[in-house]
Amino acid sequence: NTNQEISKPLAGKKLMVTAGGTIERIDPVRYITNDSSGKMGFAIARVAKELGATVQLIAANTNEAPPEGIEVIQAMSAQDMYDAVLERMDDADIIIKAAAVADYRPVKQAPHKMKKSSERLSLELERTEDILQKIGELKKHQFVVGFAAETHDVDYYAQDKLKRKNCDFIVANDVTAEGAGFGVDTNIVKIYDHQGLVEQLPQMTKEQVAHRLLSLIADRLAGGSI
Ligand code: CTP
Ligand code: CA
Repeated sequence: NTNQEISKPLAGKKLMVTAGGTIERIDPVRYITNDSSGKMGFAIARVAKELGATVQLIAANTNEAPPEGIEVIQAMSAQDMYDAVLERMDDADIIIKAAAVADYRPVKQAPHKMKKSSERLSLELERTEDILQKIGELKKHQFVVGFAAETHDVDYYAQDKLKRKNCDFIVANDVTAEGAGFGVDTNIVKIYDHQGLVEQLPQMTKEQVAHRLLSLIADRLAGGSI
């Protein structure tokens, strides 16, 4: 390996990463969302660029600043994100789905701000499209990574998602653990492939998690056995 290859192990690769929490509108001033901050996905985008990749960042709701030198595509709802990802997936070598996509959205979006009236109100919700599952069905050469945010039975659910969605890696985190998950700068993750646990990482910054994850992916793409 030359120095160039060592410092830029993702040179020549196109990486698409999704980040943040989707917003599902109820009316023009109200929506359903989740606690995702976008920090993990943005860290992946920044580190991937450092490692030489050409990066496309598909961002839902987040407070993170747009990183320099990275193409950012806004996709606020699960449906917007589905369209943005599907449109671009053929070109990607690596797809990482760090976004927290809503599982349900309001069946109807009111065109005007809703007025209060009755004492009770139910909101009817319908399932959104599973973007990662679709990617898993359609993928050809792409290396696909999913995230699994769990509150219990992390190993079981993570490996189940890996298989169901046909990912190459799944990155699992227990979002109830201190120093992990939504909104904080650190994470505690386990990375699985179809053979089982690849690596269990101690608590580290999301930047460090991104670095380790992307190094593992680079090794796999280079045909390494790590
Ligand atoms: N995901 C997705 N589209 C959805 C829901 C989830 O692409 N509509 C992706 C997420 O971006 C993540 C992975 O699927 O990479 C796992 O998301 P998660 O919410 O943990 O899993 P679900 O399959 O939605 O299962 P559940 O929420 O019931 O645990
Ligand atoms: Ca979900």
